[in-house]
Amino acid sequence: MEEHEVYPVIGAEGFERLVAAFYRQIPDDDVLGPMYPVQDLQGAEQRLRDFLIYRFGGPPSYIEQRGHPRLRMRHAPFPIGQGARDRWVQLMDRALDEASFPDEVHQLLRAFFAAMATFLINRPGRLLEP
Ligand code: HEM
Repeated sequence: MEEHEVYPVIGAEGFERLVAAFYRQIPDDDVLGPMYPVQDLQGAEQRLRDFLIYRFGGPPSYIEQRGHPRLRMRHAPFPIGQGARDRWVQLMDRALDEASFPDEVHQLLRAFFAAMATFLINRPGRLLEP
């Protein structure tokens, strides 16, 4: 399965369910909760959903509204070390389990999120190391 084939299989509804299941866990998360905008979680949910829809073969409304994703730049204000990266991936894995997509889609998305989260690390993992 290729990336652009995901949207035709799970549709906007699938991404909506996935992202809702992810964001439901954010407010109570001790690591990630404080990083996200409490007053605009709906907006954050919409941005991630639209990005994923665009990235996996759906309509490009993310690009129309936000321009080029530049994800590393957009994440620069947030301190993403190994711990935050691992927590993000853990919450997304739970959301994927909850969404129960076909196995191929599940595996493809899981690998994508893990790799992208690693790419977004922007702080040293162990601050005490030289
Ligand atoms: C590695 C751990 C990560 C942390 C701690 C993190 C944290 C955040 C935070 C705090 C925001 C701001 C919320 C908002 O107002 O939009 C954000 C935005 C966003 N994140 Fe992440 N993120 C992580 C990984 C990822 C990954 C793996 C993806 C790719 C699927 C991603 C995609 C996005 C997108 C598309 C936005 C909205 C960008 C925009 O248009 O402004 N993030 N992230």
